[in-house]
Amino acid sequence: MKVLIVYYTKYGNTEKVANLIAEGITSVDEHEVTVKNVKKIQLKKEDSYDLLLIGSPNHFGRHVGSIKKFINKLPKSQLRVNAYAVFDTYITADFEKAVKKMEEQISEVLPELTKANPGLSIKVEGTGTSKGPIVKEDLPKCQKFGIKLVQG
Ligand SMILES: Cc1cc2nc3c(=O)[nH]c(=O)nc-3n(C[C@H](O)[C@H](O)[C@H](O)COP(=O)(O)O)c2cc1C
Repeated sequence: MKVLIVYYTKYGNTEKVANLIAEGITSVDEHEVTVKNVKKIQLKKEDSYDLLLIGSPNHFGRHVGSIKKFINKLPKSQLRVNAYAVFDTYITADFEKAVKKMEEQISEVLPELTKANPGLSIKVEGTGTSKGPIVKEDLPKCQKFGIKLVQG
């Protein structure tokens, strides 16, 4: 399976989640996984993936602007993807809030695209605009999410 993981990170936690998901995926079999910061991604017409994963920290109850823009550009980018899933990082009470917003936005701009799996929401320690780190109990969920995505 060919997988593209696109993420935004301010303090490194969402990037860590992206890399752990990638580890989970490649632990199963020889899958080709590309992990890219949304700030550095350039979509070419011929790019084609079985699975697109998109990750964002929760900022003010939703995903960040650069991920929102990336999702909005998907229909015109002619990037070929068969399915998608999303993940977020959050603090305290905002479990899955950014996940739900991303899923909503994707189903609006690409209504035909299949959701491979419900989104993953990973908690980071602290309050306010926390720098994390990821809470210990949530760390194993990242690899498990990757494994589930390729094993079905
Ligand atoms: C400007 C800003 C706004 C934030 N707002 C929220 C919020 O509304 N809800 C929440 O759960 N976390 C919020 N956070 C905490 C982030 O979710 C946390 O910093 C992030 O998950 C860390 O991921 P990163 O290391 O990839 O940047 C906010 C953080 C920043 C910097």
